[in-house]
Amino acid sequence: MLDKKLIIPEHVAIIMDGNGRWAKKRGLPRSIGHKYGAQNFRKITRYISRAGVKYLTLYAFSTENWKRPPEEVDALMKLFHQNLVDLITDFRDDDIKTIFIGDRSAFSPGLIKLINESEEIAKDRKGMVLNIAMNYGSRDEILKAVKELCEESRDGKIDPKDITEQDIAFRLYTGGMPDPDLIIRTGGEFRLSNFLLYQSAYSEFYSTETLWPDFNEAEFDKAVIEFNHRNRRFGGV
Ligand code: IPE
Ligand code: IPE
Ligand code: MG
Repeated sequence: MLDKKLIIPEHVAIIMDGNGRWAKKRGLPRSIGHKYGAQNFRKITRYISRAGVKYLTLYAFSTENWKRPPEEVDALMKLFHQNLVDLITDFRDDDIKTIFIGDRSAFSPGLIKLINESEEIAKDRKGMVLNIAMNYGSRDEILKAVKELCEESRDGKIDPKDITEQDIAFRLYTGGMPDPDLIIRTGGEFRLSNFLLYQSAYSEFYSTETLWPDFNEAEFDKAVIEFNHRNRRFGGV
């Protein structure tokens, strides 16, 4: 339980890394690590929502993760399918509103249908907004925003000299949402791996050696406590 005096970050983003290493340590196939990782995702999401976070963005599959062996990609797609089915009811009691960010067109028609359905079911929910980043790449999303602006300019809807930073932010998948305050990465690396590049300009970064399937409530609390010790200056003094 977090101390009531702590500031709860409004928007938390998590790079859920380390499933493969978690499995390897136990002599299990990587897909088993992903299975435990997916279970953990459902548990920790509810905890974070109850802690008072308003936006949670979870990195589940990057635009680069297609490079993995086909068996692993297949196992991940099956897990997404199963978890989306359960997630529809799972998050109902907490009023969590699920949104998918990334290019969903690359997924199978069945998975796209499930993604659309789970968004539709949750669309009027008033609780925490959960962004699940699937086939998400920040360069890809910035490219999409640039293309939209070019088309609007070509059609005479916007004058290039009037384009603002907000115009770009609005055309990202997270358009209209606040930037992440805290970005957590499990698995020990210190890199963004193409996650929220534009939105993270002033995010606090927290990296933990803990592998994603082991990232529990106490680990989340530790990250929030560390966040409360940071001095955010946003370029000021
Ligand atoms: C993160 O865990 C999950 C996905 C990228 C889908 P990894 O699969 O990257 O696990 P490690 O980093 O190899 O341990
Ligand atoms: C980042 O993890 C992507 C997700 C957690 C979904 P990766 O395992 O793909 O990142 P790299 O390859 O270590 O940079
Ligand atoms: Mg990894």
